[in-house]
Amino acid sequence: MWRVYSIQNLMFILHRGTGLALVAYLIAHILTISTALLWGGAVFTSVMKKLAEPSFMALDIALFGCVLFHALNGLRVMLNERGWLPERSDGYAGPVIATTIAVWLGAGAVAILG
Ligand code: HEM
Repeated sequence: MWRVYSIQNLMFILHRGTGLALVAYLIAHILTISTALLWGGAVFTSVMKKLAEPSFMALDIALFGCVLFHALNGLRVMLNERGWLPERSDGYAGPVIATTIAVWLGAGAVAILG
């Protein structure tokens, strides 16, 4: 049953939130790589330097989490809607969350520890 505090509703909110974050990132990405065309090489270089700072690196890690969740959950939604997955009470939300966290932490550890 569809309830406000159901796992399905949480997955829907997270899917929409990460989808919108990806759209925002795409726009920001196009704008930043266009700085060379719009304002010249010097501005592009200073923007790229800024983007290499730790605060932007943290944003990169957050973005990776969004991509991961959105892709895995999108796959889950499509497979469930097609009826290609055996019935499960959580509709495979648990494995999607667990895999997202595991891969995200693993990739984060590799990125930070080198
Ligand atoms: C592997 C890549 C991706 C997969 C498998 C995927 C899958 C999906 C699916 C299945 C939905 C519909 C969800 C539903 O009906 O409940 C959806 C919605 C959406 N996706 Fe993706 N997507 C992917 C990549 C992207 C990217 C790269 C962006 C942004 C640039 C994006 C933005 C959105 C947005 C904004 C929605 C609408 C969310 C809503 O209104 O609830 N997606 N995606």
